Amino acid sequence: MDVKIRLEREEDFKETEILTRESFWDVYRPGCVEHFLVHKLRADSSFVKELDFVAIHNNRVVGNIMFSRAKIIDEQKNEYEVLTLAPVSVLPEFQRKGIGSKLILHGIAQAKKMNFKAIILFGSPEYYHRFGFVNAEKYNIKTSDGQNFDAFMVLELCKGSLKGVEGRYFESPVFKIDKQELDEFEKEFPYKEKHITPTQLSHE
Ligand SMILES: CC(C)(COP(=O)(O)OP(=O)(O)OC[C@H]1O[C@@H](n2cnc3c(N)ncnc32)[C@H](O)[C@@H]1OP(=O)(O)O)[C@@H](O)C(=O)NCCC(=O)NCCS
Repeated sequence: MDVKIRLEREEDFKETEILTRESFWDVYRPGCVEHFLVHKLRADSSFVKELDFVAIHNNRVVGNIMFSRAKIIDEQKNEYEVLTLAPVSVLPEFQRKGIGSKLILHGIAQAKKMNFKAIILFGSPEYYHRFGFVNAEKYNIKTSDGQNFDAFMVLELCKGSLKGVEGRYFESPVFKIDKQELDEFEKEFPYKEKHITPTQLSHE
């Protein structure tokens, strides 16, 4: 399948939000918040626009990946900059064709070129281990509230780039979605019914 990866452009914005909504709809909760996150991220100071990629097939946006700046803060209050990978999405009818992998590998390569130390994400270990992500516990990195779990993963972008880096991980406040704002934003899209699905239970 002919799929090209390029930077997202302003004229792609709405299409990317629609694809994000389609990809995440009912997967982790009834409906989704990620299309609003994409919209808010672009205007956030943490957003790395050089790492905002879309996958194009037949002039159509079929996938997207975004990164933002985040911090690890240790007990001495030293701060280390890392990247958050989120969201990544591929239109349902284009999933399992390697497009997600292509976007993630491209994002990793470009982030490396930009000299970022590491990428952090919350996701399925089964999926992300194949790209080298490991449980953040390996680097003594915990969530902002001091937790560790399998879905909390890190990828060191250069061997040793996380040497001496440990502490708690703080993503941009943009990830906190206000329900009322989301409901307002949702009105810009065609109505879609929300459902409770088995995938939501397995991600609880
Ligand atoms: C996750 C996602 C971006 C992957 O994109 P994709 O183009 O389907 O992925 P690829 O074709 O590169 O890889 C497919 C493989 O990943 C696996 N995979 C995809 N999503 C997975 C998930 N959530 N959990 C576990 N495995 C997953 C598939 O089973 C498949 O495995 P196989 O190659 O062994 O058959 C896409 O499925 C998607 O948009 N999902 C909904 C949104 C989402 O969950 N985003 C990620 C949030 S962390």
